[in-house]
Amino acid sequence: MIECRNVCFDATDFEGEKFPLLRDVSFTIGEGEKIVLFGINGSGKSTLLKLLNGLEYPKSGEILYGGALMDKRFLKANKGTFRRENVLQMQDPNSMLFNTSVYEEIAFGPRSFGFDDVDERVRHFAELFGVTKLLERAPYRLSGGEKQRVLLASLLAVEPKFLMMDEPTAHLDPPTTGWLVELLQEMKITTLLCTHNLSLGRELGTRALVLGPDHTLHYDGPVEALFERLEILDEARLLHRHRHTHEGKEHTHAHLHDWA
Ligand SMILES: Nc1ncnc2c1ncn2[C@@H]1O[C@H](COP(=O)(O)OP(=O)(O)OP(=O)(O)O)[C@@H](O)[C@H]1O
Ligand SMILES: [Mg+2]
Repeated sequence: MIECRNVCFDATDFEGEKFPLLRDVSFTIGEGEKIVLFGINGSGKSTLLKLLNGLEYPKSGEILYGGALMDKRFLKANKGTFRRENVLQMQDPNSMLFNTSVYEEIAFGPRSFGFDDVDERVRHFAELFGVTKLLERAPYRLSGGEKQRVLLASLLAVEPKFLMMDEPTAHLDPPTTGWLVELLQEMKITTLLCTHNLSLGRELGTRALVLGPDHTLHYDGPVEALFERLEILDEARLLHRHRHTHEGKEHTHAHLHDWA
């Protein structure tokens, strides 16, 4: 479905110095796979998702989509199909909600792609994401979790083939998170989700990718096997350490559990 071959990406600081955000990243995602991308803050997760969504281009290396090189020419020639198939829920829902009402927000994709059942789609996806009562409301006035649900309803309303989600549960309360976990587990489409929440990632993917603080890929393999490899999680700084008391003795050791 999509493949990264030795992808590198840089950014430039105020003094004009380049610094790496992704270094020599290679992996292939097959159709129907459910992948979770782990990495600490700043490791390059969101950057990688933007590259896979054709919003940025690698500095070196290449990305192939359905076997075709995903360069500017490819995206121009296949704009309609690509944008309908390959969707990204960005980390900050505010950067993606731009319509005057929730109805218009969900209708935007289906309308742009010429679906002939726009109203049915809006109502179906609004119902699925529990936002029917919000259809006439302005998206900017919604709570963080409501915005997140509207955003996911809008993205899924075009029935994409490849869904990428950047910290999808960041604004959701525990019941809504549980509901989203079930929904994503049941969905048949290829998904790539990034998070630094280990227990959530464990529920949402069968295969894991781990980006380290050095912006290289530290692991590509089954999620469950990753949790047996504490040294990889430790190297990627995904384990936290805090002091606590066992049998009267205070000591510090690494923990797998999440804070929230
Ligand atoms: N266009 C850019 N120009 C300069 N620096 C950038 C740019 N985009 C990202 N960065 C920096 O690159 C690093 C990686 O950013 P990215 O958003 O990919 O991290 P992340 O793994 O998603 O982190 P988080 O868990 O905090 O969301 C960060 O240090 C960020 O400040
Ligand atoms: Mg991010």
